[in-house]
Amino acid sequence: MPKWLDNAVFYEIYPQSFCDTNADGIGDFQGIIKKLDYIRELGCNAIWINPCFQSPFGDAGYDVSDYYTAAPRYGTNEDLKQLFKAAHEKNIHVLLDLVPGHTSLEHPWFKESMKPERNEYTDRYIWTDNIWERPGTMDCLRAISQRNGACAVNFFSNQPALNYGYYKVEKSWQQPVDAPGPRATLEAMKDVMRFWLRMGCDGFRVDMAMSLVKNDPESKGTIALWQEVRRFLDEEFPEAGMIAEWGEPDKSLAGGFHMDFLLHGGPSHYDDLFRCEEPFFSSRGKGDASGFAEHYRYYMEKTGGKGLICIPSGNHDTARLAPLLQGDELKQAFAFLLSMPGAPFIYYGDEIGMRYLEGLTSVEGGYNRTGARTPMQWDHSVNAGFSAAPKERLYICQDEAADRPTAEDQMADENSLYHEIRRLIAVRQAHEALQSNGGIEFVYAEEKTYPLAYVRSAGEEKILVVLNPSMKEAAFPGDFKPAETLYRFGGEAVFGGGKVSVPANSAGFYRI
Ligand code: NOJ
Repeated sequence: MPKWLDNAVFYEIYPQSFCDTNADGIGDFQGIIKKLDYIRELGCNAIWINPCFQSPFGDAGYDVSDYYTAAPRYGTNEDLKQLFKAAHEKNIHVLLDLVPGHTSLEHPWFKESMKPERNEYTDRYIWTDNIWERPGTMDCLRAISQRNGACAVNFFSNQPALNYGYYKVEKSWQQPVDAPGPRATLEAMKDVMRFWLRMGCDGFRVDMAMSLVKNDPESKGTIALWQEVRRFLDEEFPEAGMIAEWGEPDKSLAGGFHMDFLLHGGPSHYDDLFRCEEPFFSSRGKGDASGFAEHYRYYMEKTGGKGLICIPSGNHDTARLAPLLQGDELKQAFAFLLSMPGAPFIYYGDEIGMRYLEGLTSVEGGYNRTGARTPMQWDHSVNAGFSAAPKERLYICQDEAADRPTAEDQMADENSLYHEIRRLIAVRQAHEALQSNGGIEFVYAEEKTYPLAYVRSAGEEKILVVLNPSMKEAAFPGDFKPAETLYRFGGEAVFGGGKVSVPANSAGFYRI
């Protein structure tokens, strides 16, 4: 694993909504460059930028029409190159978002692939061999051209599936992974990676990394594909960081990814912590972190204790933490996020408690995700400092509440969420045990009870983390002798008599 990932703390930037420097209502690369100092001051040393390539923006850029060209709304390839350089000067690494599973309908590969005459791109996507046959369980596009077949889609209907082949071939139109069509697709994707890595990007967050090879129930074909990518990267770009959107670290790490994400859907229990009716981090104290811990342990065991599962504060696909959680609850949630293994990911605006906005009309395929993608609130100037465009031209409307949080206010207040996060990142950076590769052992994560406690370790260093977001005192059995309090929020835990007693609404990191 590249060394820089050991202590990476990421800041996710949804470029549309971060900072607009040319007053068109949409964020841009120059805006990101302008705010690099802000990101660094918060303590983050890496950024992930959502797809910023040419696209009709039917799914906010996850429908690429040219993998080699920056979307003009954000600037040029030169601007992006400048961004890499400026970030590196501040010791910030930059991940781009690679979308290898599908393109937009407008990609020239797809336009060629739609033609009935055979050509170089005929097999670039997954097509059945007659219009009446659909590609099994996947949705498909039919009668969109004179090509006599149905084309599989990988996610939304505007995202035709690129062809990396079938692990188990069962139909005449399905191709094995080593057929020329699937091979050419993979080589094309390697070229895309080469292009941006040569320009200075530091790696990729890989969209739907688990989705490439079809009819692959145990993901063996997809793992083998990524292993081939690993060999290519080891040879040409050993410092490139690779983080999978997969949600099964045993598989993604076997495929050569450095880290995976804890996904909000599926069996992860991520939502139990922050986004259900009674989240664990709510002060009502009716939550349950046991399912999360059990799932987490399961993957720790399956990955030989590597635990490189990144837990995001949220992302462009989820509701924000606020307003579901508020005030100290948010601080508690970040004490957790910033003391877990894997690299933490802070979604832009979460560090100031920006709120998810309910009921917005969908923008660019956002649907219910739109409320988590509203423009950053920087200060008290026009459009909260996001853009000088007229309000109606903003990419998505902003939070209109009089008390909407801003970076300016949060930075001026030592007791703000922003400052709590700064302190937490600083503690993490000072202790290897708290970083990506440190071990973790849950010591208390029981059903419907508080607190949550775990020990992080690296070499000789062991740190006990105790989180009690509830408004009630709590206790758990254990014989710990704290040598030093490294971080504390609220009252101090009391150790002795075979138990640890934890004050209401408190969090502490103790060297043991
Ligand atoms: C996952 C991305 O995070 C999401 O925003 C997108 O819609 C789908 N993949 C499809 O690319």
